[in-house]
Amino acid sequence: MKLLSEIQARFKPALESLVDGAEQVDSLLGMIKPTQDDKFGDYQVNCAMALGKKLGKPPRDIAAGLLEKTALDDICENVEFAGPGFINITFKDSWVTEQLSLANQDDKLGVEQVKEPRTVVIDLSSPNVAKPMHVGHIRSTVIGDALANIHRFIGHRVITDNHLGDWGTQFGMIIYGYKNFVDRAAYEKNPVQELSRLYRYVRVLMDYHSAVKKLPEAEDLKRKQLDAVERVQAEDYGDNKGKLKQQKKDLQRLKEKLVVQDELIKSYKSAVEECDPEVAEVAKQHAGIGQRVLEETANLHSGGNENKALWDEFLPYCLEDIQRIYDRLNIKFDHILGESYYQNQLEGIVKELTENGLATESDGAMCVFLDGFEAPMIIRKKDGAFLYPTTDLATIKHRVEEWQADSMLYVVDHRQHDHFDKLFAASKLWGYKDVEMTHVSFGTVMGDDGKPFKTRAGDTVGLEGLLDEAESRALQVAKEQNPNLEDSRQQEIGRVVGLGALKYADLSQNRTSDYKFSYDKMLALRGNTATYLQYANARVHGILRKLDTDKEKLKASGNAVLFTEKVERQLAIQLLRFDEVIYDVLVEYKPNLLCNYLFDLAQLFARFFDQCSVRDADTDAIQKSRLQLCGLTSRTLTCGLGLLGIESLERI
Ligand code: ARG
Repeated sequence: MKLLSEIQARFKPALESLVDGAEQVDSLLGMIKPTQDDKFGDYQVNCAMALGKKLGKPPRDIAAGLLEKTALDDICENVEFAGPGFINITFKDSWVTEQLSLANQDDKLGVEQVKEPRTVVIDLSSPNVAKPMHVGHIRSTVIGDALANIHRFIGHRVITDNHLGDWGTQFGMIIYGYKNFVDRAAYEKNPVQELSRLYRYVRVLMDYHSAVKKLPEAEDLKRKQLDAVERVQAEDYGDNKGKLKQQKKDLQRLKEKLVVQDELIKSYKSAVEECDPEVAEVAKQHAGIGQRVLEETANLHSGGNENKALWDEFLPYCLEDIQRIYDRLNIKFDHILGESYYQNQLEGIVKELTENGLATESDGAMCVFLDGFEAPMIIRKKDGAFLYPTTDLATIKHRVEEWQADSMLYVVDHRQHDHFDKLFAASKLWGYKDVEMTHVSFGTVMGDDGKPFKTRAGDTVGLEGLLDEAESRALQVAKEQNPNLEDSRQQEIGRVVGLGALKYADLSQNRTSDYKFSYDKMLALRGNTATYLQYANARVHGILRKLDTDKEKLKASGNAVLFTEKVERQLAIQLLRFDEVIYDVLVEYKPNLLCNYLFDLAQLFARFFDQCSVRDADTDAIQKSRLQLCGLTSRTLTCGLGLLGIESLERI
């Protein structure tokens, strides 16, 4: 299935004769795009303008020259010049239907396989275990999984690796909690739940102390901010417009700061004042808890037997806890190599970097100073502790040496961009020059109020609760849509539609922006939602069943597609663009482009179905052709959803 790649291949020699270098040619080929409106044909070649400027010639002459050197007759019906130098291309119907039959025969719907497969390591999910997984973790998990599926689909060798945070302070917290507050009976009955309670309990105690300490500092700062407001307000600038404008701006800025400060004070106050009196009493008894937790962590890291034994005991429980979520989301990893895996290599890494002069001592710490960054990357603290970047350096070495990675994608929150910029820069200096490293960053999940998504009580939203809620709401939708269906079927629909909606809600957003989470929106039967796509797909299956056929039979039949109505041709072109979209997703790692494509496809199918009767088609050949379009639409929807990690249903 290759519309765009075919035209690009045709124009390539002509472009190569005009400019030097593969990069320039590729950038010009990138200017070949599908038309916005099919009255301008199917595709538009837009590079004549850029070339005209570059070569100092009228774009129309360039366009004419390009066409002269490009053979299109066998595939194009019509080639027209438009405007200052656009070339509008319309494919021959016979060529389109021929491409469609090729796609039909192919299990991968004609999507081309890469000529030079690469080993792509995808770092995804990577939660800090021993803390409950929350809503933020869903983004890395589902975006990473979709990117892995898509890379694999076109023939790359993919290795997914869940780089668990399994060695951090959170273990110091549960070890401290376990030593001081464990409820034995509860632990024996349900260790995961008890460990998670201990984590939260220690968190509350630590927050209490940090709030007690920070509250007076925060109030002091607020007083200073209020003074500053007064000072700015007191200035009298008469009618000096410039100064008055500046004064207004300054006030605005200061007031914004005050709002943030007030929020902070409120949160400290509530940690102290709204703390359960019993808990507050315990907190007072554990005054040094913050320091003690750090000590427990340090003890674990330096090989303290007791803490290491506890860690060995706890870790499987923590893993079991997150595995339950991965099972529900149907996410599998090739490797789960957490931070702990690399601990015995860190000393060697620091030594190597010191010996080759990359790391130098500063204030007792070992640092890598990098051009273009204000602060260095610290790889060993003064007290001897290794840090997050040290482990990441060891991870890179492992991925290159053991797995021969050509490219590594880190699907991680945008707030870590400074860490990755430094990590990548340091790795290049270290010698890993030929490995492509990309931080596939993403924004925050927001609630309806436009603030980071929290529960009513102000906690981060747990992932498990989110999955439960999505499933139960989808079940309600399923019951409304089809009240007579047996219960177990409705449950199954609720599960598939609910989880699919949740994943899609995330994937259909431009990953770099924050997005507002809404159950209602994601489960809506209209609009760009998985629910809409699921119902559209099930509808196609329904048509096929009524006419006593299915996708496999249609694939095997090899029946030709004919165009009797305009919309049939439009649907065919959209189906054939699947290949182009798959490759587009990987340019900037944006699965939302695939979502948009599937949504357009489903909408176009709805139009086709409205305008072209399948059951009462005029002739047998037309009916067969329309069935073929139905089969291909459903296969494309199912395949596309599958690449996004979303199951589809034949009946809803
Ligand atoms: N565990 C980290 C966190 O929750 C994310 C790890 C991302 N991957 C990595 N190789 N640094 O913030």
